[in-house]
Amino acid sequence: MIIDVISLFPQMFESPFSESMMKRAINKKLLDLRLHNLRNWALDSYGTVDDRPFGGDVGMLLRPEPMYQAIEHVKSQQDFNLKSKRIIALSASGKKFDQAKAEELSQLDNLVLIAGHYEGFDQRIIDHMIDEEISIGDYVLTGGELPAMVLIDAVTRLVPGVLGKDESSHFESHSEIEIDNEKIRAPEYPQYTRPREFMGNSVPEVLLSGDPKKIKAWQLAEIKKKLKDSGCK
Ligand SMILES: C[S@@+](CC[C@H](N)C(=O)[O-])C[C@H]1O[C@@H](n2cnc3c(N)ncnc32)[C@H](O)[C@@H]1O
Repeated sequence: MIIDVISLFPQMFESPFSESMMKRAINKKLLDLRLHNLRNWALDSYGTVDDRPFGGDVGMLLRPEPMYQAIEHVKSQQDFNLKSKRIIALSASGKKFDQAKAEELSQLDNLVLIAGHYEGFDQRIIDHMIDEEISIGDYVLTGGELPAMVLIDAVTRLVPGVLGKDESSHFESHSEIEIDNEKIRAPEYPQYTRPREFMGNSVPEVLLSGDPKKIKAWQLAEIKKKLKDSGCK
C-alpha cells in the first residue's frame, strides 16, 4: 500500500515509523510511506500556505492553491492508482474513524492523508479536493499529524503480511464475531500469561485445562460479559 501524507510537519512521522510493526511493514515493502511538506507548494518565498478567514473569525486557514498543487503532484506519481485511492482530510468534524473504516481503507492501493493545522482548511479543499473527512475522536488536537499516524497504524496492520499469520488470524477487539446468530463487533476476551499465580491472583482454571471447547466457551462468555458491562448487549 502506498500512503502519501501532505503535512506542514512531515518530520513528526519519523520516529513512530522507525520502530516496531510500522518499520517492519516499510522494510517488507508492504507500506510505502511518502511524506510531502505542504510548504514545497507555498505561494511565496516566505513559505505562505495559510491566510485569515473571511468573515472576521480568528486564526488562520490553509489556503486552497498550495493544497491543490500538492494533491495534483501526488496524483501524478507514476504508480498512483486513481481507481483504487482515497484522499482523506483529517478533521475534528469528520466521520469518526473505526475498525470497519480501517478494514475498508486497507483494501485500497493508495491513500492520501491531508493533515490540517491552525484553524483548519479553506472549505473548498474539503468540497472539491478530497473524498472524505475523518476524525479520530470527539476532541480537538493541534494538527492532523497524530490523527494521520493513528489511521496509518490501524490500516497498515490489516495489510496482508504486516502481522504474522498467528497474529492476523487472532480475534481482536472490534473484529466481527457471530454471537447468538448475530454478527457484531465485540471486545476481546481477557488473556493471561505466566506466572499461573501472581500476588494471590490465579489464572482461570479453564485456560489450563487444555480443552479447546471449554476454553472457547469461556472466552465467549467473557466477551458477552464485557458487552453487557459496556451496555452494548
Ligand atoms: C486546531 S485543529 C482545527 C479545529 C477546527 N477549527 C475545528 O473546530 O474543527 C487543526 C487540525 O488538526 C486536525 N485535527 C484536530 N483534531 C482532530 C481530530 N479529532 N481528528 C482528526 N483530525 C484532527 C485537523 O487536521 C485540523 O485541521
